[in-house]
Amino acid sequence: MSNKVEESSITIDSGIVECYYHFSVERIKAHYPNERLIFITDENVYKSHAEIFPVGDTIIFPAGEENKNLETVGRVIDELHEIDAGRNDRIIGVGGGVVTDLSGFVASIYLRGLKFSFAPTSVLAMVDAAIGGKNGVDSGQIKNQIGVIRQPDALFFDFTLLRSLPSEEWVSGFGEIIKHACIKDAEMFHYLENHRLEDLGNNPGAFARLVQKNVNIKLNVVAQDELETNARRILNFGHTLAHAIETLNKLPHGLAVSVGIVFACKVSERLTGFDPKKTEKIVDLLQQYHLPVSAGFDKEAAWNLVSFDKKKSGDSIYFVVLEDIGKGVIKKISLENLKDLFFEI
Ligand code: GLY
Repeated sequence: MSNKVEESSITIDSGIVECYYHFSVERIKAHYPNERLIFITDENVYKSHAEIFPVGDTIIFPAGEENKNLETVGRVIDELHEIDAGRNDRIIGVGGGVVTDLSGFVASIYLRGLKFSFAPTSVLAMVDAAIGGKNGVDSGQIKNQIGVIRQPDALFFDFTLLRSLPSEEWVSGFGEIIKHACIKDAEMFHYLENHRLEDLGNNPGAFARLVQKNVNIKLNVVAQDELETNARRILNFGHTLAHAIETLNKLPHGLAVSVGIVFACKVSERLTGFDPKKTEKIVDLLQQYHLPVSAGFDKEAAWNLVSFDKKKSGDSIYFVVLEDIGKGVIKKISLENLKDLFFEI
């Protein structure tokens, strides 16, 4: 990382979590000098970065969404018990979204809750999964069905860890970045139009600023409505369909979100009069960042998952649509209405 000016810059965002940018995992140990730190990570992150983890106080679980379940939670809890983890110890979740979800959940329930912080290691975790406090696991086919909302104390961003990130994971992260641009930030949308993933990936300073912008967008929304009673629902743009096809097609999250964004744009055209030319601009931007804009999937099976969605409220669902690029709005629509659109689009 060449950007010395920004090294160790610290911002306290929104009062709900401290963010430390350009902060190595090594330095986390010095940041908490009086606490025992227990690191939780997955096999992939551990294989790529074994040297950053302390011997003894590191718990490693098998990588992959298929392991984000209660069985893995049980195993991690058994290991915490074996190493005698106590009420005053701190969990540090180091990894992508599966690690932050699972370690944040474990930290929230083990001994009724330990302190915890995250060091996200994927683009997706840096701009989305590590932020917001919703941490949990899947149950059968239902993503994130079991979980809590509890904020980490701090997020540590070490951009050097991204060096080992596979290219599909970079692409996946931009699914959430483009989502943020669509719902909240037309200026960032134009910025992304004028850049390419390859350039941003090779420009650490520019990439760090982009991550920071996205962290702030998400934290500002979460700070308004931590428990998702209203404003926070905006972050679900593209996610109603995304969660279903992520499960059915085993697509990485950001790629599924991309397909979900296109569907949500078409629903927006019908519900808010969103300009179809702007849908085209969004499709072009998603493709520019190598994201898929369609996917073949079993519509009946997908609808069964959509209609079981957590965003459902009785016979209605909160669905996020666009009025303009940079202006998302939350609409409560009947499941019947959405079903018609779902099978028509
Ligand atoms: N952990 C992701 C969120 O809270 O939205």
